[in-house]
Amino acid sequence: MAWSPFLPEVMQDPSNGYGELLAACPVHRCDDFEPPFFTLSRYADVEMALRDIETFSSQFGQGPRFTPPIGMLCDPPQHTFYRSLVQRAFTPRMIEGLRPRVAELTDELIDKVVEQGSCDLHDDIAFPLPVVIIAELLGVPTADLERFKHWSDIQVAAMGARDPSIYASEQEAFISYMRNQMRSRREDAERGLAPPDDLMTALATHRDNDAFLPEEQVLSVLNQLLVGGNETTTSLITNAMWRLLQEPSRWQRVVADPTLIESAVEESLRFDPPVLGLYRNTTRDVSVAGTTIPEGSKVMLHYAAANRDPDVFPDPDRFDLDRPRKRHLAFGLGVHFCLGAPMARLEAELALTRLAARLPNLELAGDGERIAPFFLWGRRKLPLRWH
Ligand code: HEM
Repeated sequence: MAWSPFLPEVMQDPSNGYGELLAACPVHRCDDFEPPFFTLSRYADVEMALRDIETFSSQFGQGPRFTPPIGMLCDPPQHTFYRSLVQRAFTPRMIEGLRPRVAELTDELIDKVVEQGSCDLHDDIAFPLPVVIIAELLGVPTADLERFKHWSDIQVAAMGARDPSIYASEQEAFISYMRNQMRSRREDAERGLAPPDDLMTALATHRDNDAFLPEEQVLSVLNQLLVGGNETTTSLITNAMWRLLQEPSRWQRVVADPTLIESAVEESLRFDPPVLGLYRNTTRDVSVAGTTIPEGSKVMLHYAAANRDPDVFPDPDRFDLDRPRKRHLAFGLGVHFCLGAPMARLEAELALTRLAARLPNLELAGDGERIAPFFLWGRRKLPLRWH
């Protein structure tokens, strides 16, 4: 089949081709990338792969390229150890505790543009909101926030770039910054001084058998929080607003009845998942839907296509605020299920709630443009206006 994630029409709108993939090519091989990779698109196959972590391993990374096992980007038991460390900062209670700050920050961001009559949703609200919240949680000093935002952008761009080396020096600058932050917390702890009470301190000063954890491991976990959580949440906010505003009557329904916001966020996650798919690595030859995938292959689990599988979601290509709730795969499933899902949902729900309350007459002023890389889906710009 001629489908490829790099076709211009698929780059423009990845949903072009889901129907064909699902119906005619449930195991697709893409040779237009190094390394070549397979794509699973049917809900049942994606779910099977997510559960069979022995065959569909994360040991060599969840991205399109083979990477060494590090931090949480690997299989149990190492994965379990690092995940449980971070999990402590992401309990439902702790996330709920962020609610007032997220609402306050959203209002501050709206305050900055409200008199203008127009803004770019991505740049002015959807991008700064999650970056500032995660930076505060980690304990990044306010003075460094702009640099931190910039690095967040770079990390995402590098992930899917055909030549990631162009970002190498920026990435090194970020790692060295985080390393210094980590070391100063460890020095404080060793001198008996109290380091700041933040997530970075918790990770940096955690001791296993009386020793700090290896620096590279902690840096990888910190990096994953940044890469995994920022652009994705930004995209959730822009994608959800884009679909709501595309049909003004939809937005007006939400404005009139904000209890619909939760459904709007969930339907956006199903319809336009910010992570279109992630990768696994086969540890043996495995047959899926009659096709053999050889051992050692990269396999993309296409969460977005699975979310449009008509066997699970009737009339899948309709964005439907009244759709009965069923488990979509926007946050994955199983042992790697997104750790930040409650945080992303909280931020998106509050962003939509405050926008509906304060700018009920919002309109799209264009469709903006798609973000890169090919396995993420969001809008780099989303111009809005109101009166
Ligand atoms: C709408 C926003 C988000 C989306 C769509 C999203 C999506 C995902 C997906 C699909 C996975 C599963 C990875 C896999 O299958 O291999 C994942 C894992 C993860 N996400 Fe998210 N994510 C979002 C927000 C966040 C946030 C806000 C954070 C934290 C600040 C975060 C941190 C993580 C981490 C640490 C993992 C790895 C979990 C593991 O391997 O055990 N994510 N995310």
